[in-house]
This record gives sequence, C-alpha cells and structure tokens, in this order.
Amino acid sequence: MFHNRLLKVYKHKSKQAIRQNITCYRVYDHDLPEFPFCIELYDDKVYLAEYLRRHGMTDEEHEQWLEECVTAICGILPVTDANVYIKQRKRKSNRLDQYEKTDTKAEYFSVAEQGLQFLVNLTDYLDTGLFLDHRITRQMVRNECKEKRVLNLFAYTGSFSVYAAAGEAASVTTVDLSKTYLTWAEQNLELNNLKNESKHFFIHADVKQYLKTLQPNSFDLIIIDPPTFSNSKRMKDFLDIQRDHVELLNDVIAATTTGGTIYFSTNFTKFLLDAEAIKATSIKDITRATTPFDFEGKLKRWCYKISV
Ligand SMILES: C[S@@+](CC[C@H](N)C(=O)[O-])C[C@H]1O[C@@H](n2cnc3c(N)ncnc32)[C@H](O)[C@@H]1O
Repeated sequence: MFHNRLLKVYKHKSKQAIRQNITCYRVYDHDLPEFPFCIELYDDKVYLAEYLRRHGMTDEEHEQWLEECVTAICGILPVTDANVYIKQRKRKSNRLDQYEKTDTKAEYFSVAEQGLQFLVNLTDYLDTGLFLDHRITRQMVRNECKEKRVLNLFAYTGSFSVYAAAGEAASVTTVDLSKTYLTWAEQNLELNNLKNESKHFFIHADVKQYLKTLQPNSFDLIIIDPPTFSNSKRMKDFLDIQRDHVELLNDVIAATTTGGTIYFSTNFTKFLLDAEAIKATSIKDITRATTPFDFEGKLKRWCYKISV
C-alpha cells in the first residue's frame, strides 16, 4: 500500500520539481494514515519523519516495519539506504521540543534552492534548517527588496535573509533568540558570498523586547515568522502568537516606513487574525499564493502581506 502510494505521489511531484528546477521538496505528507510520515528530499538525501502514535507493534515489529518502509523509499526515490535520515516526532510536540538538539553529529551539507545555497542538517535537530513551504515567499522577498532595509524576525537559519541579501537589499537585520541559529544564518550568508558586515547585521534578542527599542521608520520590508509558543530564560514573558500577534504586529508597523511591507506567517492551525486591531493600511491573506506545489492541499500555515 505504502509503496504504491509513494510511487504515485513521487511520479507526480518529481515531474513538477523538474519543471521548476527544484531539488529539495516534500514528497509525502501523511498521505496514508497507517504510514504517518513526512518525507522530504534534499538533493540525494531523504528526511523521513515518523510521527509517533499508538501503533500496537512491539519494538521489534516496529523496527521491521520501518525497515520495510525505508526499503520501499529507496526503491522509488533516487536515494540509498545510507542517505535516509530518520526522525521520530511526537504528533503534538512539546512547546519546547522543537528547538532542542536531538543529536550532535554536526553533519551539515549544502543544498541549492533557486540559485542560492543553504546548509541543512538532518541529524541534530528536529527541523532541517530549511523550511521548504516558504520557497515562494522567499522568492517574493528577493524580488521586492532591492535597496530596502530588511528586517527578518524569528529568523531561524536566515533563509529569508539570504534571499534578501541576494535581492540587493540596502541592509538585512536578522534577529533570533538562538545563538546556534544565528551562527547558522551567518554561515548561510557566507556560503552565498553575501556576508557584508557593514550591511548585514545579526541580533541575538527576544523579538518582543527588541521591537520596543526600535525607532519609527527603521525598516522598509519585514518578515515575521514566529513560533506558536516560545518560552526561554532570556525572555521577560512567554510568547503566544494568538494572544500576542496584535501587539507584535503593531510594534512592527510602528518601526516600518509608510508604504512599507510586512510578511507575517504563522503555523498555528487555529490562528484567527484580529485585523480590526492591527494598524495597517491593508492586510491581504496570501496563504494560497505562497503555497508551493509540494504543499498543495496539505499546508497548515497562514501567510499575510501587510501594507503600512
Ligand atoms: C518558526 S522558526 C522561524 C522560521 C524562519 N522564519 C524560516 O523561514 O526559516 C522560529 C524561530 O524563532 C526563534 N525564536 C523563538 N522565540 C523567539 C523570541 N522570543 N525572540 C526571537 N526569536 C525567537 C527560534 O529560535 C526559531 O529560530
């Protein structure tokens, strides 16, 4: 069953990927409930996330079952057994789990996306370093940022920053609470020969507090892609995107020049935007327009273009 479904989706998606010249994409996402996997291709490597559930198998049976699934994957995708990286994820991950290290192999490799290079790590963290669902949004930023002052908030490994620097932004400011991810973001810029200390800045801070320090008219284009929840010793208060989005976005708007643009994205499935309370000129839901072919019908995140 799994073999047939994977074969079918891979045939379909790989054709689209070739047409769009894309080598990193999501192949399979919970297509069959009995096979609760998310499978992503990163060039010649596969990221296989298994979402844990009560499967009723013993450890040995589960191991055997997983091995058979890997065999099916290697028979269909252009990968070898050694290049399948398996991650086991909880269905509803703990609020803090997402950013914790899961291993220390430090096996980084670079992949290409739309002419740019990104470091990916399939062993040490729950996420890979490159969120594939924002491929189109990243391209939008690159196309629009020429000579603009760009701010990338909750930047993670700085993939939006790389696109902005490549799009000849006047400056790119990358903010994250994690030093590890900020370093990764710097390395991503370096990898693309885009590192420039007089134009591109990395700020280790809690976004909530950082925004309070900004003067009006500080930036022209802002990307804000926060986690649903966040808590850390470095933060004065925890972050709850549903509770905090109005204040966060109004603080971002206050720092943005008139005529500027904010791209706001959230993965919180039940998110409700309080548009009335946000002091923007216009807010456009661009979720569909930013959904890549490999996330069609599967995407559980929202994306908005906010004009100031
Ligand atoms: C969902 S990821 C952002 C993804 C990123 N925009 C991208 O497209 O690659 C969330 C990031 O927010 C960071 N983070 C969490 N809480 C934070 C806070 N209060 N201030 C700054 N960064 C925070 C995490 O370290 C993580 O890198």
